[in-house]
Amino acid sequence: MSEMGERAGMTGGAAARVFSGVKPTGHLTLGNYLGAVRRWVAVDQHQADALFCVVDLHALTVDHDPARVRRLSRQAATLLLAAGLDPELCTVFVQSHVDEHTRLAYLMECTASVGEMRRMVQFKEKAAREETAGVRLSLLTYPALMAADILAYGTDEVPVGEDQAQHVELTRDLAMRFNRRYGPVFVVPRATQPPVAARVMDLQDPRSKMGKGTVVRDGGAGVIHLLDEPDVVRRKVMRAVTDAGADVVYDREARPGVANLLDVLAACRGEVDPAGLAAEYGSYGALKRDVAEAVVELLRPVRERHAELAADPGYVDKVLRAGAGRARDRARPRVDAAYEAVGLLPAGV
Ligand code: TRP
Repeated sequence: MSEMGERAGMTGGAAARVFSGVKPTGHLTLGNYLGAVRRWVAVDQHQADALFCVVDLHALTVDHDPARVRRLSRQAATLLLAAGLDPELCTVFVQSHVDEHTRLAYLMECTASVGEMRRMVQFKEKAAREETAGVRLSLLTYPALMAADILAYGTDEVPVGEDQAQHVELTRDLAMRFNRRYGPVFVVPRATQPPVAARVMDLQDPRSKMGKGTVVRDGGAGVIHLLDEPDVVRRKVMRAVTDAGADVVYDREARPGVANLLDVLAACRGEVDPAGLAAEYGSYGALKRDVAEAVVELLRPVRERHAELAADPGYVDKVLRAGAGRARDRARPRVDAAYEAVGLLPAGV
């Protein structure tokens, strides 16, 4: 059976195909690392044929500076390798190097409705910050491209942060709708989330996610970047907002600041129970000191490896070129089949 037929018919049991992406719109954060990347390294890349993509086309949906996108794309790819993705085990590549993504995105736009796109929370939030008329059209259609990213590869599992669950849900709907209308071309994927600290919150605003975009809001003081120097990490943690009350208890609603610190500490230690950790601490200061050291130690090997890799850009380029080749080979048969299924004449080459 062809690779595509085999996988479209796959019902589980065998190793799952995994696909995920990072958007080069900012420096990768501790939230990206604990919420997603660490698990890609520890678990997901060991599954059959996992693909990890720097989704650079998605960075063009908002005002962007070309030089910055270029720099951040290279940095994101380098950081993924520094964090431990192994090109011998998985495929690391850049989205714009593989035309199948945009080819399939068009078919996804022809499968989705305007109403569905408008309902996406991320679109509503971003569009609310600007005049809708001036918002790039690609910001609205972005989930069609994301669906294409996922569906082109016959993906079973999409390990992402909680904030992306709605986009993966839409991807499932589009896959099922397409298959119903035109025949069984796509595997219907599902989102998977790590058990601990899927959602690290901003240290200055613990009710908002620690995201790359947060930098604008609070000058970056609440966001730890993977390449922050140890002293910068310590300063940010020590200045994290805590809550009224001096005792350390785990209560996400009433004490979001302290709960977030406990979540981060639990995640750094690989424990599942942040509430249990609270009992070890009598003061916020002691908790913060331990969080700071835990994060510094967690990031140290990543920073060191990044420095080595950044000194050898030729190596990173080579990995990305090989990755794009492998990704193209995986995606093309399925995208060709989708083109044919919707009624487009095969090019016959
Ligand atoms: N939308 C994701 C984010 O903002 C990035 C992304 C694009 C992605 N395509 C993807 C994630 C495909 C997983 C799979 O973080």
